[in-house]
Amino acid sequence: MTLYKDLHQRSISQREAFWGEEAKRIDWHKPFGKVLDYSRPPFAKWFVGGETNLCHNAVDRHLKDRGTQKALVWISTEVDRVESYTYQELFKEVNRTAAMLRSLGVGRGDRVIIYMPNVPEAVFAILACARLGAIHSVVFGGFAAASLAARIDDAKPVLMVTADGGSRMGKVIPYKPLVDESIRLAKHPPSKVLIFNRGLDPDMPSVPGRDIDWKDFSSKEENIPCTWLESSEPSYILYTSGTTGMPKGVQRDVGGHAVAMATSMPYIYCGGAGETIFTTSDIGWAVGHSYIIYAPLIAGMTTILYEGLPVRPDAGVWWKIVQDYQVNVMFSAPTAIRVLKKHDPALLKKYDLSSLKHLFLAGEPLDEPTHAWIAQGLGKPVIDHYWQTETGWPVLSAVHGIEKTPIKYGSPSFPAYGYDLKLLRESDASEAGADEKAVVAIVPPLPPGCMSTIWGDDERFVKTYFGDFKDQLVYSTFDWGIRDQDGYYFILGRTDDVINVAGHRLGTREIEEAVNMHSAIAECAVVGVVDALKGQMPLAFAVAKDATLVATREGQKALEKEIMDTVDRQLGAIGRPKAVHFVTLLPKTRSGKTLRRSIAALAEGRDPGDLTTIEDPGALQQIKDCLGIL
Ligand code: PRX
Repeated sequence: MTLYKDLHQRSISQREAFWGEEAKRIDWHKPFGKVLDYSRPPFAKWFVGGETNLCHNAVDRHLKDRGTQKALVWISTEVDRVESYTYQELFKEVNRTAAMLRSLGVGRGDRVIIYMPNVPEAVFAILACARLGAIHSVVFGGFAAASLAARIDDAKPVLMVTADGGSRMGKVIPYKPLVDESIRLAKHPPSKVLIFNRGLDPDMPSVPGRDIDWKDFSSKEENIPCTWLESSEPSYILYTSGTTGMPKGVQRDVGGHAVAMATSMPYIYCGGAGETIFTTSDIGWAVGHSYIIYAPLIAGMTTILYEGLPVRPDAGVWWKIVQDYQVNVMFSAPTAIRVLKKHDPALLKKYDLSSLKHLFLAGEPLDEPTHAWIAQGLGKPVIDHYWQTETGWPVLSAVHGIEKTPIKYGSPSFPAYGYDLKLLRESDASEAGADEKAVVAIVPPLPPGCMSTIWGDDERFVKTYFGDFKDQLVYSTFDWGIRDQDGYYFILGRTDDVINVAGHRLGTREIEEAVNMHSAIAECAVVGVVDALKGQMPLAFAVAKDATLVATREGQKALEKEIMDTVDRQLGAIGRPKAVHFVTLLPKTRSGKTLRRSIAALAEGRDPGDLTTIEDPGALQQIKDCLGIL
């Protein structure tokens, strides 16, 4: 393990020399003066004074050597279409889009909300923002109007870019009514909405004077120069869930992000210029930002953007794509593999996968049987790796571009270069020993590419992420982990109220707030429970204002359905609880805190833990009754 260890050691002990060298992987319009400014901990500024542009590095830079190479291939099994764009063509489309955005008043530092399905125009819009020095904030298309409105109000965008709709299982999901509703709800709505009309929704409503049709505008060909940004200026905001109901705007910089992306491709993903990567995520998530768009394009690869499910037209569709497009690197999520596991394993062998070097999986715990099933089925190394929206790139991973360390099933291997990782005891922040469960923490400064702050709220950034351990300024990942005798890490779930539903990160508080929007509900508690397919599912315990409403089974069923519809409307169907149980009171401590950990433990058949602080033990009995526990 010496090569990996040397790299990791150097990245920590000679931090500036290490990253100063790695920064040569990208183009700088103006060289940086200092690699790191850490004069105001925990805020880290990387490549100080350097000027660059993400779109230049992802597109323009490749025109000379790979203008005719495919940059982006869009495959939609939803609308049965394939579109390819060479770097030259991508350059043209991005410029055209940037021209549109500019004429709609978008400039440096302005925010643009992008609410789109996985279509090429979403990539054009993202890169066009980067070109203009505008800050994009992509919102996952599965979020409902109220969630979108909350993000609008936080980002205060000048423009929203959207499409008439998405598609799932061949069924159209109209976006526009939802967008209109979010703008109605928002206090700081954008004055213009640019709509890419795919022709999916013939009844799409339109607001004259505000709504603009992409196609009316986009015929103009124009070259828009890149706006050179100082390395630490914001490039994008991506909202993610945490302990409170209000999502946090993870803010990313420009220079550090570009360098982190450029470095991770050869070191971790073993991908190089001219090769093809297929990342099955959605552009609305961190994985989509980093590994559908930025890292592959900065590295000069061909990236595949996929719209569809892993099982349609059949469960071999992804492997057919690997064969047909000679995919070298693939990146997906454990949930998808668990879905494929229900189908004929012969499909894993049906196509020629000789081009494929690795399959990477991240986003949620990868259980050992699933890891073994897919690795053996494909006959390829399957690399579990761990990271977060906040970090933007892997925290724990095998670094096979440097050394082919053996893989242990169920483990995301070791700390990636740049991360000074510690496992700290929750009680006193002391370092845990081998095989001891503790909190995964990172000693700052965080490496390049990690979040620079929470958008508009430096104080919340410090308090949330660096306030977990008294007297010690360390970044908490809010994940439990252990390290075995051989130094391999295992992630054991979150320390906070974040749950992971089919790879989608959600806060149980967000779901609670959505449930509470139903006028018949007095209060509720939502917890995550293990689900064989989705990893976790939310489960709700609600107190009705009028107990007679839920006195009968029929009454309960009717209200449960209404609550589920409310969650769909407020948050999106991804947050819909598996079930809603009705109780007359929730188990709370004497100081009024709901005992969520105990409820979750009971729901998963575990010991509810220390209950000495409980206000009314009868409340816990009600939970047990709902769950059928004696
Ligand atoms: O709890 C960890 C889990 O997903 C969280 C981050 O989710 P998100 O911000 O959506 O970013 C996903 C980027 C890949 C983490 O705090 N998680 C992520 N990867 C793993 C994981 N849990 C276990 N094993 C992993 N490999």
